[in-house]
Amino acid sequence: MQLWTVAQWCARPCMDRAEEVTAFVVVVEQGKSVEEGVIVSFGSNSSMKQLRQSVAAKLKIADADGITLLSSQEGSEVTDVRQLLDLKATYVQTASVRRAIPYIKGYPVVGIVPMIIRDTRECLSALFGDHDTIQFYVFSTHVVATRDPAGGQLCDQRQRFPFSEVRQVGGTGLFTSSSTDPQWQLAHRLLMPAFSVSAMKIYNEEMVQVALDTNNLVSQYAANEPIDVMTLATNITFQTIGMVGFGYDFKLLESKDAPMSPFLIGMNYCLGQVKTRITRTAYWKHLPLASNYRFDAEMQGMKGHSAPDENGNLVGLSDDNIYDQVITLGIAGSETSANTLGWCLYLLDKHPKVQDAVLQEIVDLGIKPGVRPEAKQLNRLKYLTQVIKETLRLFPPVNNIDKYCEQDCVLPGGHLIEAGTIIRLHAWSIHRNHRIYRDADKFDPDRFNEQNIKDIPSGAWIPFSSGQRACIGQSLALMELRAVLAIMLCKYKFSTVGNKTIDYDPSAITTRPLDLFMTVAQRTEYPEPRTDTSAELAVGLDASSLDVGKLSAAAIAGGDLPNVTVAFGSNMGASEDYAVQMTEQLQKMGFPQVTLTTLDDWDVAAAAPSGDAKRPLVIVITSTYNGVPPDNAGQFAKFLETETRTDVLDGVDYLVFGTGNSMWRTFQKFPRYVFARLGELGATSLGEFQFGDSNEDLEEDYMQWSLRTCAMLAAKYGSSSEGYAEAVAVPRSLPFNITLVDSTAAAPFRIASENATIKANQELQDVGKSGRSTRHIEIVLDQSSGIQYQTGDHLNVYPVNKPGVVREVSAILDVDLASVVELEQTSDSSRFSRSAAAAMQGASCSVSDALQYVCDWKEAPSRELVVALGEVAGDDAAYHVLRKAADDVNTLGKQSPGWSGFVSQTRTVLDVLRRYAPLVRQVPFGSILHFVSAMTPRRYSIASCQPVVGNEVHLSVAIVDDIVNGRLYGGLATEYLALLEPGSRVSVSHRPAQAAFHLPSPPGVPVLFVGAGTGVAPFRGFLQEMKQAGTGDATLYFGCRSPEYDYLYKDELEQYVQSGTLAKLQPAFSRVGSERKYVQHHICADGAKIWDLLDSQKAHVYVCGSASKLAKDVVNTMLDVFQTHGHLSSDDASKYLADLVAAGRYVEDVW
Ligand SMILES: Cc1cc2nc3c(=O)[nH]c(=O)nc-3n(C[C@H](O)[C@H](O)[C@H](O)COP(=O)(O)OP(=O)(O)OC[C@H]3O[C@@H](n4cnc5c(N)ncnc54)[C@H](O)[C@@H]3O)c2cc1C
Ligand SMILES: NC(=O)c1ccc[n+]([C@@H]2O[C@H](COP(=O)([O-])OP(=O)(O)OC[C@H]3O[C@@H](n4cnc5c(N)ncnc54)[C@H](OP(=O)(O)O)[C@@H]3O)[C@@H](O)[C@H]2O)c1
Ligand code: HEM
Ligand SMILES: Cc1cc2nc3c(=O)[nH]c(=O)nc-3n(C[C@H](O)[C@H](O)[C@H](O)COP(=O)(O)O)c2cc1C
Repeated sequence: MQLWTVAQWCARPCMDRAEEVTAFVVVVEQGKSVEEGVIVSFGSNSSMKQLRQSVAAKLKIADADGITLLSSQEGSEVTDVRQLLDLKATYVQTASVRRAIPYIKGYPVVGIVPMIIRDTRECLSALFGDHDTIQFYVFSTHVVATRDPAGGQLCDQRQRFPFSEVRQVGGTGLFTSSSTDPQWQLAHRLLMPAFSVSAMKIYNEEMVQVALDTNNLVSQYAANEPIDVMTLATNITFQTIGMVGFGYDFKLLESKDAPMSPFLIGMNYCLGQVKTRITRTAYWKHLPLASNYRFDAEMQGMKGHSAPDENGNLVGLSDDNIYDQVITLGIAGSETSANTLGWCLYLLDKHPKVQDAVLQEIVDLGIKPGVRPEAKQLNRLKYLTQVIKETLRLFPPVNNIDKYCEQDCVLPGGHLIEAGTIIRLHAWSIHRNHRIYRDADKFDPDRFNEQNIKDIPSGAWIPFSSGQRACIGQSLALMELRAVLAIMLCKYKFSTVGNKTIDYDPSAITTRPLDLFMTVAQRTEYPEPRTDTSAELAVGLDASSLDVGKLSAAAIAGGDLPNVTVAFGSNMGASEDYAVQMTEQLQKMGFPQVTLTTLDDWDVAAAAPSGDAKRPLVIVITSTYNGVPPDNAGQFAKFLETETRTDVLDGVDYLVFGTGNSMWRTFQKFPRYVFARLGELGATSLGEFQFGDSNEDLEEDYMQWSLRTCAMLAAKYGSSSEGYAEAVAVPRSLPFNITLVDSTAAAPFRIASENATIKANQELQDVGKSGRSTRHIEIVLDQSSGIQYQTGDHLNVYPVNKPGVVREVSAILDVDLASVVELEQTSDSSRFSRSAAAAMQGASCSVSDALQYVCDWKEAPSRELVVALGEVAGDDAAYHVLRKAADDVNTLGKQSPGWSGFVSQTRTVLDVLRRYAPLVRQVPFGSILHFVSAMTPRRYSIASCQPVVGNEVHLSVAIVDDIVNGRLYGGLATEYLALLEPGSRVSVSHRPAQAAFHLPSPPGVPVLFVGAGTGVAPFRGFLQEMKQAGTGDATLYFGCRSPEYDYLYKDELEQYVQSGTLAKLQPAFSRVGSERKYVQHHICADGAKIWDLLDSQKAHVYVCGSASKLAKDVVNTMLDVFQTHGHLSSDDASKYLADLVAAGRYVEDVW
């Protein structure tokens, strides 16, 4: 591909106007030289509007319509894109560039500091005058401030300008450190999962408890006794942070007379000082002043009070940084939320109609004083959420959101902001900008209702900031505020003492109500609920509450019930497990004939009823892998593809439940296809397509679906009112009987036999620099393994538990490792067919082998295990959490807090065994084996070519080291693989890759390899194969973080370039400098060439690596390439990609 400099580009020959071409033009901002321009590509058939938009996006100009393109610096306006084909450069004129940003003249040296020091809200707001954007100096720092919503959209959001003073309090905590600070990056990675949506579900329980404790505290106040609302609010929010963030009880809500926490005193003092210190010189801060001494002492005090998880140490961050994170969360999370809580209570008091509407909503949702509300009730508080949002609009706790602008950008109305400038998004002024909000100073929660919220432009509501450095606690804050307000308002009415008007404290760094004192009165009157929403909410949550029955005896006797086929497609056993469970449930309900089969074995041709036989029912439960069917559904898929008759399944009823993972771009592709095709072949669906997501809680999704399905079937085929909870409840009977055989050693028991030996195990990263590990592992296959693989295939590795874990588990279970046992199945309950017991059944196995080679101690605990432990827990208060989890096992609804809270804290079976050791011993060993899964093999892409390496297989393995709740959890297989020495024996098996994931045949067709991290593995094999075959038109886009530490196989890859096997090697480094480069950025840059390779030279594309990240983004980039360089519409680009996939020319092998 020809690479142009701007100068070369300008010297190129002009385009031929007749043909439809992709053209490029250098776009130069007026007043700049051509060398400073940027190249913009456009189709010669694009409209001027499209072109302006491309130019606007490239130059970061907010108002694309305001752009004028000129033929030269002062030349005529370009009105048709085809004019540009003759031009080498076009000059951009915008209203903005010509208008200077109004400058607010401050004082020498200090700039505008004296003008805003009294109050950074109203004073700065006043400086805007009629303008939306102004500029000024704060000391020697040039700042552009805006109240234009476009500001946050345009400016670079990666780099928040760190306040050096707040940083002194928050240290290198997330809030206060720079994006380029490695500590920020590490902390961000570690702390983000704690704020995810799934994590929020778990925190709900603690938040509700905090709110209930608050009500108890409030009840200690006499009727007219003023409450210092901000002290109360800070205690509430700090208590919440302590509980959800660190599992630490600061005991702030026990007594109204309890002294304030020293941490809070310290925090308030230091934050108060921040504002003063911002205006002082460095020298002043070292003067022996009382305030400086106290500042240092309080800082030390806060560190002394910060409380890392008592269950274990936070791993990865330095001790100092841990303190900083704790302090940061304390400041960022408590002060901000407390202010909002205070303002909400005040505004509700001042707006009785709004308060009435809130109370009505609370009552409608069935929330009652003194009764612990459920998460689903709190989540439905839509109007209260509007109230909180409107409060945050009027009183945003953080007002100055400073961003660092990395690239020139132009705000609407024409103000150029140059790269390097600090842009201050002034939340106070944006939120009260009359051009955006009508009656901007009025409190009106209806602005945020479903209908009106659409009119609020993006960037106009920024209490939590936006972009990469936005607040990570937004969901937590909203959830906490909803819980606390609903629970408090449900019981009490708050009134401002003396009905005073409250202002904010101008001296505080956050927008804090000043002198807010309120009294409370217990409510005695409530509105009538408008609808019986509470009843509606209860439905579907508890199996026992459903009015569904077993099939009536009459229906069964009368033979009115259909034959049912439960057909599954499954590779890893989840869908199979559910199919087995569904079969059992249907049998329990009374269906006389329920056949369980794989999809491939299902005799579709015989499915349709003949004559006047009853309509049979087919229930399909299937997964999908990279969009294709699982292994035991391949034949069935072929049948669906080729069958053309539309009446094959006439008279058949059906239901489909898909299992999948939303991390994959092709989420539920095959199950959906099955659902659609069964209908097209004549079957009648009894319900919509339903699915579960293993990225969330597949088990829960299945339980929900199976419960509803059984309810629906019971209603359709029978009418008994007997509950059928038994059919769906966790079975308590144990299907296995364990017997001690004798003490002579049994033959070694393995899930798969040992059939290979480790030859080499080398580190591929510079671990010291990256902190992560990827191993290159060479395995020699035994002759007897019979493994023959094709390049691109996978190897299954069977993990083995560490000897330390085996010893620990045997001690907890109090079992003798040398004993030999046999398991006999005593009932036909085959639920949990993936259990360790099921794997061992029928063979003699030493306890040692069972613990080391069979049981998966690292998986999440099963519901069955928890129920069993709950049963032996008695009513000992120490086991409250366990019993709550066990009680919740049959409580459906994603928000079953007891269960989700339990698994978040006791993540693995091993965690459960450790924490509940005394109980575990009371559960029979056979039951434990039944409740724990057998270890499943892990798949790895083979990184070698068999004709080149003979009887070896090479793997590239990224070692999993998760940090959760401050504890380190190594991956089951990778932890094992990482430690294998040469000579160690291993169990492996071969898994063929999908048909298209091999080099094209005949060879010689260009190939594009796209991979990141260990995604390079199969390409190493392909390159070996290509080198041996002497072919060589390959391009490799390889992504890693840095050439310094994780450029896997760098030397080898470069040698392939030298030998000509690789025509192009394009690394993408994601952590070098400030710009994050991924493979897709290079694909985008090489778009024209890639389009040519695909369209003209019929190249094949292979993508390997992360499914959730890389694969999705590469597809989007490819679609862009097809549109830009192939001039396809969005629909045609998708179709083009679908055709490539169907032809096996775009293949993903992602995980
Ligand atoms: C087709 C295919 C090809 C692959 N190729 C490669 C390859 O070439 N190289 C490579 O390195 N990997 C590859 N993988 C990934 C590999 O199979 C393993 O998934 C990976 O090595 C992690 O295995 P592990 O046993 O060490 O981790 P696991 O113990 O399985 O943990 C993996 C993740 O599961 C979650 N998890 C585990 N236990 C729990 C729990 N109790 N509660 C909640 N979450 C939990 C965690 O998020 C953890 O990070 C491939 C996967 C597939 C499907
Ligand atoms: N390699 C290890 O030592 C290790 C250790 C523990 C766990 N893991 C996990 O194992 C999995 C695979 O790891 P890996 O080592 O093969 O890969 P990796 O090193 O995690 O990722 C490879 C490269 O892909 C980049 N990337 C991230 N998102 C991308 C996207 N949307 N599009 C394109 N590229 C993207 C990464 O950038 P950024 O990371 O800079 O975003 C990195 O440069 C990952 O989930 C990883 O978290 C890996
Ligand atoms: C109503 C409540 C809240 C408001 C209004 C709020 C507001 C904000 C804002 C505006 C920022 C960006 C600051 C800037 O760019 O200068 C921010 C960042 C942050 N907030 Fe919040 N916040 C709230 C609650 C919380 C809670 C409850 C937590 C945690 C428990 C939290 C943790 C953080 C953290 C860690 C950051 C820094 C993120 C980063 O820079 O990577 N916040 N918050
Ligand atoms: C290699 C691999 C590819 C996958 N591809 C997809 C996919 O394309 N779409 C999807 O929805 N789920 C995908 N998944 C998730 C599985 O379908 C999901 O985990 C499912 O529950 C597995 O069910 P099974 O155990 O019955 O096979 C994939 C999982 C793996 C390991």
